Amino acid sequence: MMSETKTRTLLITGAAGGIGRATVSIFSERGWRVIGVDRQPKYAGFPEDGMYIQADISLPEQIENIYEQVSAYTDRLDAVVNNAAVQIAKPLLETTAEEWDLVMASNLRSVFLGAKLAHPLLKVQGGAIVNVSSVHAVVTSADISAYAASKGGLLALTRAMAIEFAPDEIRVNAILPGAVDTPMLRAGLSRGHVGDGTIIDRLENLARKTVNGRVGKPEEIARSIYFLADNQQSSFMTGQAMIVDGGATCRLSTE
Ligand code: NAI
Repeated sequence: MMSETKTRTLLITGAAGGIGRATVSIFSERGWRVIGVDRQPKYAGFPEDGMYIQADISLPEQIENIYEQVSAYTDRLDAVVNNAAVQIAKPLLETTAEEWDLVMASNLRSVFLGAKLAHPLLKVQGGAIVNVSSVHAVVTSADISAYAASKGGLLALTRAMAIEFAPDEIRVNAILPGAVDTPMLRAGLSRGHVGDGTIIDRLENLARKTVNGRVGKPEEIARSIYFLADNQQSSFMTGQAMIVDGGATCRLSTE
């Protein structure tokens, strides 16, 4: 069932999304076996020697089912990348309790529940957890409150996990991407913060606001995720938040 030549194993959620697919590719190219989890079906191009689990991580029983399958497939995980998330873009006053709960269940509770089940597999050889947060954890804007709160919570959870998992030599870090051209970004441009022209107009407006003048590519985030996941590269980092945003958060908005 499993490839004998691949020695390290990654589990990544949101594997079928923009950043997810790019991350799957990079780990696979670099010799890792990949377990991809997403509520979307398996996509053409997912590594043939990997394992794909279609599941909804906002539901605790489905997370348990994922780890039953994972435990039957491998006796060890070297990295878990918590990348799946949903974004509800609407004013706080119009956000319902159900929408709030869905965002928290998908983006934050799933990481907590997944960590409990991944822990025995990660401690076998001292693995790493990478939580994909967002610049919205530290600076934010209108009409995205539940998402921003979930990503801020994920930073606090990252620190808590880093402290509690350190005795088992499991490192836990967060990455905070800025604007990256993916389906989620394009959907979120409907918030009106970058004008109301076509999607391309809005993407260009967004790019102009970034210090380096462009939005990021999924591969640029994937390479940073790889850095945080790989014990040979980031061995002395844990509990940290790494911002990868083309300079978006370095400029004072009042200047
Ligand atoms: P995307 O929407 O392309 O991919 C997200 C994937 O997660 C989708 O394939 C979706 O099906 C999956 N997913 C969502 N909820 C799920 C659930 N409950 N169960 C299973 N799968 C689920 O989004 P993108 O842009 O690739 O986002 C990846 C990560 O990067 C997310 O955590 C997002 O918050 C974060 N991020 C993205 C930024 C951007 O500009 N694209 C900026 C900052 C952070």
